[in-house]
Amino acid sequence: MSMLLSMQNLSKAFGGLEVVRELSFDVPERTATALIGPNGAGKTTVFNLISGVYPVTSGSIRFRGSDIVNLPSRYRIKRGIARSFQNIRLIPRLSVIDNLLIGQHVTLTRPFDVMRPFRLVRDHEWICAAKAELSAFGLGQYADEPVGLLPYGIRKRVDLIRATLSSPSVLMLDEPAAGLNASETRELHSHLDTLKERGVTLLVIEHDMQFIRSVCEKIVVLNFGCKIAEGSFDQVRTDEQVREAYLGAEQAA
Ligand SMILES: Nc1ncnc2c1ncn2[C@@H]1O[C@H](COP(=O)(O)OP(=O)(O)OP(=O)(O)O)[C@@H](O)[C@H]1O
Ligand SMILES: [Mg+2]
Repeated sequence: MSMLLSMQNLSKAFGGLEVVRELSFDVPERTATALIGPNGAGKTTVFNLISGVYPVTSGSIRFRGSDIVNLPSRYRIKRGIARSFQNIRLIPRLSVIDNLLIGQHVTLTRPFDVMRPFRLVRDHEWICAAKAELSAFGLGQYADEPVGLLPYGIRKRVDLIRATLSSPSVLMLDEPAAGLNASETRELHSHLDTLKERGVTLLVIEHDMQFIRSVCEKIVVLNFGCKIAEGSFDQVRTDEQVREAYLGAEQAA
């Protein structure tokens, strides 16, 4: 099985605070890998390092075998590393389709193109592609609705479509199921199944263990920035260190 992403001795410190410590793990291609751990364990920071939001303090991140730690964020997106954020970053007063087009515009053009007139954004092919993708996921009827008026579960999936329109190789999802009700969670699940069938590799941060169990083949567990366990759901579930980490977090709360 080939490794799409490979982290080696990755560390990140903010000032004196070490948030990610000597972390090594692989993300196998065409599978879903989960990154779990108690609040503050460093999960979102790992996503920020992989996507290039923050520079690493030390260590390497290999994507298809080449080190990307010095590659600006924009080029990582172009190479096929996409993500969604813990908080949805869509513009509420714009329509679904316009939000999707803005996403495309940012990923597919050079920085100075942003200065050009809106006609680029309105490119006919992009509109067709975005509409086709919405329909493929059963959201075609929302194309012209302002995002701010849509139910949260729909917005989450629009955000997913925004992240996958450029056909990324790997999609990083930060707590995709948070705030969703049971039926929205099922819809998200089938959305992700479709992405997996298309060959998209997933890296998922999530607190919902049922969700993790049914979506992810591999689990990596972080605690205080360190990897404490790795394996299948059942392997990590029964791991003593993992139990202690979660128990400790519960007691602290
Ligand atoms: N930009 C930053 N500057 C300083 N400290 C930061 C920064 N970003 C994150 N941290 C700290 O790093 C630690 C890990 O944060 P992170 O957001 O990665 O955790 P997490 O595992 O995603 O937690 P949660 O499950 O609550 O989302 C926390 O102590 C946080 O306060
Ligand atoms: Mg987080």
